[in-house]
Amino acid sequence: MSIKKISKVQPELFEFTEDNIQKAKNEIKKYPNNRKASAVIALLYLVQKQNDNWIPLSAIRYVATFLEMPYIKVYEVATFYSMFNLSPVGKYFVQVCTTTPCMIRGAKKITEICKKNISQNQHELSENKLCSWTEVECLGACVNAPMMQVNQDYFEDLNEDSAEKIIQKLLRDEFSEPGSAKNRKSNSPETGKTTLLEVKNA
Ligand code: FES
Repeated sequence: MSIKKISKVQPELFEFTEDNIQKAKNEIKKYPNNRKASAVIALLYLVQKQNDNWIPLSAIRYVATFLEMPYIKVYEVATFYSMFNLSPVGKYFVQVCTTTPCMIRGAKKITEICKKNISQNQHELSENKLCSWTEVECLGACVNAPMMQVNQDYFEDLNEDSAEKIIQKLLRDEFSEPGSAKNRKSNSPETGKTTLLEVKNA
């Protein structure tokens, strides 16, 4: 399990773009007037999307003001959830699942590939600053283990070759087609369907 890292280098100011101000207001409208704070996760997510995949402390202050919340409450949310990054992760953030089903199907080899190609340590940017990686707990795609998530997309049914190809492409600023590396549909058996043959898309 990795420990959340808070960047030592922090931009002094953060502001939403006009577009994100509108999106933030739309999120707030989903809740009663006296429950603006309920939109905190959605707003932090908007920050992260706007700011190259990470949330600076100035943005936590900005969200606190936006939602009329104490800074510490927004900070608690941002530090609690592993999907929020508090230091730069690069354009491509690789999260390798290392929970038991992925581990017994070869996740360790994928973390070794990350070490070799991206950086020796988790949460460190690659030399060209495009990528970083971390180990995470189960991402809910165990049936297609081992797997990794890159930004919002899942790459499943990996082996050493397919994982290394995907990562090397990321380092060249190219994004591979997400999904199963074995072209498996959903989580159907590797050898094809054996039941529900008459049902299309089952
Ligand atoms: S154990 Fe890896 S996705 Fe669930």
